[in-house]
Amino acid sequence: MAVLVTGGAGYIGSHTLVELLEASIDVVVVDNYSNSKPEALNRVKRITGKDVTFYEVDLLDEKGMEAVFKKHDIEAVIHFAGLKAVGESVALPLSYYHNNITGSLILFKLMNQYGVKKLVFSSSATVYGLSNLSPLIEDLPLSTTNPYGTTKWMIEKILEDIYQADPTWQIVLLRYFNPIGAHESGLIGEDPSGIPNNLMPYVTQVGIGKRKQLGIFGKDYDTPDGTGVRDYIHVVDLAKGHLSALAYTTTQQGIEAINLGTGKGHSVLEVIKTFEKANDVKIPYTFMDRRPGDIGTCYADVSKAKELLGWEAKRSLEDMCRDAWRWQSMYPEDYVND
Ligand code: NAD
Ligand code: UFG
Repeated sequence: MAVLVTGGAGYIGSHTLVELLEASIDVVVVDNYSNSKPEALNRVKRITGKDVTFYEVDLLDEKGMEAVFKKHDIEAVIHFAGLKAVGESVALPLSYYHNNITGSLILFKLMNQYGVKKLVFSSSATVYGLSNLSPLIEDLPLSTTNPYGTTKWMIEKILEDIYQADPTWQIVLLRYFNPIGAHESGLIGEDPSGIPNNLMPYVTQVGIGKRKQLGIFGKDYDTPDGTGVRDYIHVVDLAKGHLSALAYTTTQQGIEAINLGTGKGHSVLEVIKTFEKANDVKIPYTFMDRRPGDIGTCYADVSKAKELLGWEAKRSLEDMCRDAWRWQSMYPEDYVND
């Protein structure tokens, strides 16, 4: 019996693999390396001392995916694979809908065919849209503002319909808040290509001197210091949340959306200050206009995760800053060749 992990070479997937392997859970990984590198899996092996069964296959390749289901006795699936850049999704909606929706449909069809009905799906806090107020609770009305977010919302809906038609499925929709940081070994972490869209990789690249200064998007939000507030969660805490969700699918039938966050909001200025103090590195910044589509404040109500999964985040913002910096400073340019 094994757990199929789609997108396991990616940022969150690789950290989750470490936790799964360390818990002696058998894994089978598929990834097409569209946003990751084979080295990530070598690093997972280095950290855990365990081999990873891996197939370089695209979710859109139904025959290739079916071969994996045929060959292995899959018991459950953790589905990370997907494209995730908000701005790119606005420019390339067809690619996003095709990759994320069609890829998921093929996966769910094969799961149904092979009687695999336990699923943990990577959703996002982006499905709460712009108008809900934090702390965000799971049963709020959902809306999205870009094709990426819409793929998450649509996949959640598709899974609800699958469950309605066949209540023997056991599905957890994990709505991640803002995952940052890296494994404490410094061997795996986030590896953005090009100019980072997200705050922490931008901060670490300024720290290392790759970028001159951080642009802070907006200083007039209705927040204590005027800069945007988010619920940053250490990627290792997030990874551990998947093991709890997986365990939940083995005992409970149903479909549940569950927030994974810390329940605490931190502003951009707080992140900079914490990063500077934790690492003794200066982060020059300048204020810029608000980024279109951003909201002032977004943080989770985390009581459902605690109640249903018995999980809560343990690591502090300081831990996140220290671990993100260790990863960046071990590999200033390119983690494969440095
Ligand atoms: P990532 O890009 O690092 O990992 C995704 C992996 O999926 C990559 O290794 C990529 O190569 C692979 N992939 C993409 N399309 C594929 C396909 N058609 N077939 C096979 N493999 C494919 O992203 P991540 O940050 O690890 O995110 C994992 C999941 O969590 C994604 O679904 C993402 O949308 C979701 N999520 C991420 C965040 C975040 O801030 N990182 C927040 C909320 C939700
Ligand atoms: N920010 C800056 N400068 C930057 C980058 C970000 O000031 O260069 C600010 C943003 O305005 C925001 C905060 O830092 O206030 C965090 O921004 P991120 O881009 O890191 O994260 P977001 O909350 O905007 O977006 C993330 C994911 C999305 C997901 C969303 C909701 O990147 O994929 O959370 O879950 F949809």
